[in-house]
Amino acid sequence: MEKYIIKGGKKLSGTACVTSAKNAYLPILAGSLLNDNKILLKKCPKYADVLKMCDIVENLGGKTLLEGNELEIDCSNLNSYIIPHDLASVIRSSIFSLGSILGRFKKAKVAYPGGCEIGARPIDLHLKGLKALNVKIVDKHGYISCDGRNMKGGVVNLDFPSVGATENIMLAAVLTKGETKIINCAKEPEIVDLANFLNMQGAKIYGAGTSVIRIEGVKKLTNSIEYEPIPDRIIAGTLLLSGLMTGGEIQIKRFKQEHNMALLEKVKNSSCTICIKDDILHLKVEGRQKAISKIETMPFPGFPTDLQAQMVACQAVSKGTSIIVENLFETRFKHVPELVKMGAKITVSGRTAVVRGVEKLYGAEVNAQDLRGGAALVMAGLVAEGYTTVNNANHIDRGYYKLENLFGNLGAEIERI
Ligand code: UD1
Repeated sequence: MEKYIIKGGKKLSGTACVTSAKNAYLPILAGSLLNDNKILLKKCPKYADVLKMCDIVENLGGKTLLEGNELEIDCSNLNSYIIPHDLASVIRSSIFSLGSILGRFKKAKVAYPGGCEIGARPIDLHLKGLKALNVKIVDKHGYISCDGRNMKGGVVNLDFPSVGATENIMLAAVLTKGETKIINCAKEPEIVDLANFLNMQGAKIYGAGTSVIRIEGVKKLTNSIEYEPIPDRIIAGTLLLSGLMTGGEIQIKRFKQEHNMALLEKVKNSSCTICIKDDILHLKVEGRQKAISKIETMPFPGFPTDLQAQMVACQAVSKGTSIIVENLFETRFKHVPELVKMGAKITVSGRTAVVRGVEKLYGAEVNAQDLRGGAALVMAGLVAEGYTTVNNANHIDRGYYKLENLFGNLGAEIERI
């Protein structure tokens, strides 16, 4: 298992560019299964999860060709409606393919999905949604088998605005006769991106980005398109918080202000100047930061759960006390005991972490246990005294491509071995 070794203490400086969003690319790859014309996706990031999703498309009979940073997808000869356990278990987004496979074949068999172990992560809302489209579902032996021969549009009322369920139902409805309405759906920018991607091909999806999405089923997606998915707001946030922690002066390119409002609101009173123009954020930090008194994760437009761990790392070295509440996932504080090994003063009770900022963290050997928690440990290493080793770097690869280069290019002393 590879690891990161970081020598802390360098102020970050220079320019970084945000790569495309993992959480946009994954459902878009699933959506590509609906079209038998070629699709070209631009600025393809080489995150492990994106490459795994390509394996899923290939396993279903699709072709994917990654040349430079352009990904060509050809799903004209799909020949399977099954995602086996060995593929589904390594990536949660395999579940999005269920809706698309149903759209194409009117049947699907998908093994239960894997992904980060940050909570129970049930799929009941996905299945409830598909049932509302008249899909018959048998859940047996670790596989979800769907019969969609009698699929038709329907009304889905989500109990919670689940991102994955919204995307899955949208994908299932695109080629399904009649009108589908998803009420209390998720409003994340990645949902809007997926709808734009599908509409460019001929789908009829209205209302993405609001809490009701309406889909008029079409017979076929007819257009071959080129598409550039949105930049990754979580990587943008990781960079901004790392800049705040380490001090210094950085520029972040492809920083979409409208996707990061909750984060910007939280950091607006920090001792720094932030200036955003034409999707370039300029950050100049002045000294140690004051703690942000309260942060609660919420569905978009609230503060993203995918930035909670990085925010905990940032608050660990701030002046004062911060209360951080994780409302989305039950067990998403696995980075905390590791940060404590580095001298952080954090206590967790249920879904609440109380972070008492310390002046210094100390290098230690720590274990990444999930994607964003792993990134948070690397961030802590950037400011810690001495050397930090972050084991299990593969967790981080799921959503960051060569994190050592991202931080290394900003002057951090980080290597991967
Ligand atoms: C997506 C993101 C993930 C992010 C999360 C929340 C992708 C590939 N992943 O995950 O990075 O952390 O949104 O912003 O886009 N739930 C149910 N039943 C369901 C589905 C979800 O109870 O059928 C619950 C989950 O357990 C969780 C909450 O709803 O507590 C939010 O989950 P959801 O929005 O579905 O997250 P994902 O789509 O898995």
